[in-house]
Amino acid sequence: MDRFVIEGGRKLSGSVRVGGSKNAALPILFATLMTRGRSRVHNVPRLRDVEFTLTILRELGMAAEWLGEHTIELEVVDEAPCEARYDLVRRMRASFCVLGPLLARRGKARVAMPGGCAIGVRPVDLHKKGLEALGATLPLEHGYFDAVATRLRGAEVFLGGHTGPTVTGTANVMMAATLAEGTTVIEGAACEPEVTDLADFLVACGARVQGQGTPRIAVEGVSELRGCDYTVIPDRIEAGTLVLAGAMANSDIRVEGARGDHLGAVSDVLRQIGIRVVREDGGLRVHASRDVDPVDVTTQPYPGFPTDLQSQLMALLTIADGISVITETIYPDRFMHVAELNRMGASIRKQGASAVVSGQRQLSGAEVMASDLRASAALVLAGLVAKGVTEIQRVYHLDRGYERLDERLAGLGAAIRRVEGPGEAFEGGVA
Ligand code: EPZ
Repeated sequence: MDRFVIEGGRKLSGSVRVGGSKNAALPILFATLMTRGRSRVHNVPRLRDVEFTLTILRELGMAAEWLGEHTIELEVVDEAPCEARYDLVRRMRASFCVLGPLLARRGKARVAMPGGCAIGVRPVDLHKKGLEALGATLPLEHGYFDAVATRLRGAEVFLGGHTGPTVTGTANVMMAATLAEGTTVIEGAACEPEVTDLADFLVACGARVQGQGTPRIAVEGVSELRGCDYTVIPDRIEAGTLVLAGAMANSDIRVEGARGDHLGAVSDVLRQIGIRVVREDGGLRVHASRDVDPVDVTTQPYPGFPTDLQSQLMALLTIADGISVITETIYPDRFMHVAELNRMGASIRKQGASAVVSGQRQLSGAEVMASDLRASAALVLAGLVAKGVTEIQRVYHLDRGYERLDERLAGLGAAIRRVEGPGEAFEGGVA
């Protein structure tokens, strides 16, 4: 299993370009199951989760090939297959997004119900509620949904859950609605930019979607969707991670291609901490600040502070001048990074769905274990400033959502290198 070896204390400088959004690219790739003809999707990041998605799509009758570094060409060549196997779904929860497209296009789908993962239980009751509202039946037997929809019909459905909207639930129902008969209104829809990007892709394929980016999305069903050329938005979570790396290392860096309008809450929290992030020439510039003030933050659905940057922010707050409280409202158990950060000398106490972070002047390098995608990113950030050497095991978790993160941080001056290890068991999925 590959590991990262980081020698802390280096200043960072220069610029790094943010890649395409993983959480926009995945549902967009699944949406091509509904189209006739060829699609070319650009700005797709080279990630394990993308390769995994292509494996699932190929099993479902898709011809999919990389054209150059970040473009994939896809075309459905066989509409008979309708099963997404447990062995695949268990390792990437996002693969549940085959459900809406298969029901809409092929009228049936046998999809394994995703299990839990390192960040929480991950239910799919809202996906089921929305698809049933459109006329599908989704009996669960032996861990699989045997979903059938002879004809999907538009409906009004509220998709809000006890912790707010569902991102991939909104994606699944919105995709299914594009080929349903009549109009669908999704109330309580997720407003994340990734949902908006998926909606814009569907419109480029001929769908009729309005209200994307708001809690009320209206979809007027059409008879067919055609493949198209589309460019995925930049990854706001990767951009936020890179910005926090600059903040962590008390360094001025530029994050090229980052969408400042997708990171308003993150820039606001950094301003409260004393770190200025300004929009500049189509990217973000981080202005270093020696002093890191403590802050209280609660994760929220977009446009609030994203749960996917909670662990990375916590890494920064471990070296703040005081006590911070981070409250996680989306995944109350998303604190796998706490124990590992404490091994590096942090002083974090978990208290229910909150973590109390007592800032320390110095972290110390240690051998730590990556557990899930974003928790692993937090360990990398901590390693950048810890005294001595930090070794992070199981970095395949990082490779799921960050393209060549080691090389790109090294390009900013970090002393980080990948040590390749023998084979690796790709464990359960998170994202
Ligand atoms: C998406 O997951 C992202 N993944 C996650 O990013 C992200 O953390 C999450 O949204 C929240 O922003 C992808 O887009 C591929 P949800 P998703 O359905 O859609 C509850 C990463 O690191 N819920 O929005 O699976 C759920 O328990 C990954 O890139 C229900 O109750 O998350 C949670 O509390 C990790 N019933 C909340 O809603 C449901 O049917 C949000 O979940 C579905 C969800």
